[in-house]
Formats: sequence, structure tokens, C-alpha cells
Amino acid sequence: MMADKKTATLSFADKTLEFPIYSPTAGPDVIDIRKLYADGGVFTYDPGFTSTASCESKITFIDGDKGELLYRGYPIDQLAEKSHFLEVCFLLLYGNLPSAVELEDFEARVTKHTMVHEQMMYFFRGFRRDAHPMAIITGVMGAMSAFYHDSTDITDPWQREVAAIRMIAKVPTISAMAYKYSVGQPFVYPRNDLDFASNFLRMCFAVPAEEYEPNPILSRAMDRIFTLHADHEQNASTSTVRLAGSSGANPFACIAAGIACLWGPAHGGANQACLEMLREIGTVDQIPEYIARAKDKDDPFRLMGFGHRVYKNFDPRAKVMKESADEVLDLLGIDNNETLKVAKELEKIALEDEYFISKKLYPNVDFYSGVILDAMGFPTSMFTPIFALSRTVGWISQWKEMIGDPTQKIGRPRQLYQGATMRDYVDVEDR
Ligand code: CMC
Repeated sequence: MMADKKTATLSFADKTLEFPIYSPTAGPDVIDIRKLYADGGVFTYDPGFTSTASCESKITFIDGDKGELLYRGYPIDQLAEKSHFLEVCFLLLYGNLPSAVELEDFEARVTKHTMVHEQMMYFFRGFRRDAHPMAIITGVMGAMSAFYHDSTDITDPWQREVAAIRMIAKVPTISAMAYKYSVGQPFVYPRNDLDFASNFLRMCFAVPAEEYEPNPILSRAMDRIFTLHADHEQNASTSTVRLAGSSGANPFACIAAGIACLWGPAHGGANQACLEMLREIGTVDQIPEYIARAKDKDDPFRLMGFGHRVYKNFDPRAKVMKESADEVLDLLGIDNNETLKVAKELEKIALEDEYFISKKLYPNVDFYSGVILDAMGFPTSMFTPIFALSRTVGWISQWKEMIGDPTQKIGRPRQLYQGATMRDYVDVEDR
């Protein structure tokens, strides 16, 4: 933390308290209120953490007004164009771009861990045949702590490292298995001669009766989806991972908690919800009705794939994703299906509409990723698992950073209690 001399003064009742202000390397100053309760006897109230920094971090930075996303200082568009997912994983985990030797070593380490314990197959079989892949992945990721006991001791740096590599390597295998299970097809084992993205596509789309030949354009688009979703500051699922980890829980359990949080439609579930919404809208002439519903205060409906807590200009991930969408749709010769027409028209209308402009609601990454994944042949139920797969490295990097932070404490928010005060128990016959 930068030890600045700046302070903030807070006066209330008969007290005047002074708090240090820290200047980050980027972003707004932060007031350190850790002594507020001890010195002032009051808590702060900030539901949804709209103004609260929960930790110090050196991993990812977002400037929501500029529409900027940096991984370890590198802009996301440069990484999406020039780098690839495994290099981005190294960057997020260790803080710097790898040398050629480091990259080769890292790729070899990850590749060596792509298979899951054969006994884990039985775990999959416990799920209903039509279970949502997110339900399966959440369960199986948590169950990894039952299979890989030798990497659950969080006090041992070597075990932390092995757990990280295992999760990055195995989450595509687990996700593809969850998909295969949900469609009743046999599992496809990983192939280590393929790159990370091609291997995942093959595990999803090959069947024993027919080999799958990864297309370089589709593999590249898949790899970009992984890269664009790899980390995103202290969002809901990342904060969940940190909170779970703050109690000393093992890394597999913490990442499983993150996956569960990601599932919600306001977070990672938005890509599935977005494509389902486009299909529900159905035809371009229905769009005005849905736009009107999105604006109606009495209607809970929201345009999925629009808006972001932090980006108030544009989502830089969406920009790259839109380019990828064009490449993929062009390759697959999809230029005129009804869902795509609805997506294009909705994007146009929303970008011109006063309601969306004034509230700074732009298409987010999920708006375009759903269109690409659909074109590639993924069912909507796989959209959020693919987000989880991509974000695993971000969660692990943040978890590792937290474990190594000497100021880290168990997360324990306070509350503004508005319930009943102490009252005596009344026997049932007297109520
Ligand atoms: N459609 C219609 N109105 C919206 C939308 C939307 N998608 N998003 C926000 N608004 C309105 C909202 O009604 C509110 O209006 P008012 O000020 O009149 O009450 C205003 O915009 C601000 O909304 P908010 O809920 O206070 O904003 P937030 O920062 O809490 O929510 C959000 C951010 C992403 C949850 C929200 O924009 C949303 O629900 N979007 C749709 C879901 C979605 O696409 N989520 C994916 C986010 S990107 C992937 C990820 O990083 O997880």
C-alpha cells in the first residue's frame, strides 16, 4: 500500500476521526476505515459493495469510464490479439509475461494434468441424466478435494501451486464431461497434442464414432473467449472465492463456491439468459415490446447482455468479442438466422435509445459470447460453464494473492440490524 500523508476527517456526534488515504497505482483513492468501529463505535453501510474496496490487489484493473481492462497492466485487447489463454494464465498467476522457456514449462505442467482421476466418473453418474452442467461442475469441482488430498494444505506453497495447475488443467475436462453427460454421450479423454482451446472443443464435440477436427478460426475464437473472461477484479464470484478462502478452506472448495456464485443470471448466467431472451423475442418486430418492458419500472424484465456495474462507457471485452463473432459467423456461413437478426437489431436500437444512453447501458461481453457459442454448436446450458472454465485461473490467482497477503483476515461483514430486539420465548399454547 502506498503510504501517503493524505487523511480524511469524519465528524459525527462529538467525535472527529482521522483516517489514512491510500493512493493506488490506478483508480480512485481509498480511505482506510479499518479503525472506524474501534475508534468511533459505528459501522459503514454499503450493500453490494458499491464504494468498498475489500482487499489490496495487483492482478486486474478496470477503468469503467474509459472502458479499460488490464491484466497485470496489459490491455485486454492486446492480449486478445497477440497472446493466448495459457500465456494469460501464466501472467495472471505469476504477474509477468513468461519467457519462451517459462511458457514451455508452464504449458507442459498444465498439459500433464488434463486427465481427471478415473474414479471421478462414478461421481458424474450420481447426477440425473439431464442435470444442468453448472450443477455438475460445481459438485465435481468441490469433490476434487476428495480426490486430490495431496494439494489441499493451504499453508504449503508447493501444494497451492499443484492445486492451481490441477484446476486450470482439469476444469476443461470436467466441463466437457458435464456436457457429454448431460447429452448422454460418452466422455472424451483429453488429447495433449492439441492446444488448450482445440482440446476443449474436441472433448465437447468428438464422439467415438466420429473424430472432431478443430478448425483454427473456431479454436482461436474459443481461446479468446477464455482470455476475455479470465479475470475481472473483485466481482461477485471472485469475492465469493476470497471470502470462502479467508476461512482457510481448501482451494477446490473455494473455487466451487465461486462457480456457484457465477451461475446467477446477473453474473455469469447472463450469457445463457441473453441467448434465451433473443430466442424468446423471436423476430425483429417483437423488439419494441421488449424494449418497453425493459424500461418499465413495474416490470422486473431487464435486457440481458446489457449494462455493467463498473463499465459505464463500453465493455472492452464486448468490442473484441464482436470482432470474433463476425469471424465465426462468417466462417460458418451464418449471416441471416432469426436470432442473429434480433441480436443485431436489438444492439442497434439499444445503442440509440435515450433510456439506455442516459443509464450508460451498453452491450456487455455476454451479449456477443452467447451468439458465438451458439454458432459453434454449444447449447445455452454450456455458456456459463465456459465462463466458469475461463474464470478459474482468475479465481485461483486472486485466492493465491489473498493467501499470501499478511493483512488478510477472515471476511466478516457487519450489518444494519432492523429485526426484533430481545424478547422472551412464549410457549406454543400461549401464542
Ligand atoms: N436492462 C434494463 N435496465 C437496466 C439494465 C438492463 N440490462 N441494467 C440496468 N438497468 C437500469 C436499472 O433498472 C437502473 O435503473 P434506475 O436507476 O432507473 O433504477 C439502472 O439501470 C442502474 O441499474 P443497477 O441495477 O443499479 O446497476 P447495477 O450496477 O447494480 O447492475 C447489472 C449491473 C450487470 C447487474 C445490470 O446492468 C443487469 O442486470 N444487466 C443484465 C444482466 C447482465 O447482462 N449481466 C452480465 C454482466 S457482464 C458479465 C459479468 O461480468 O458478470
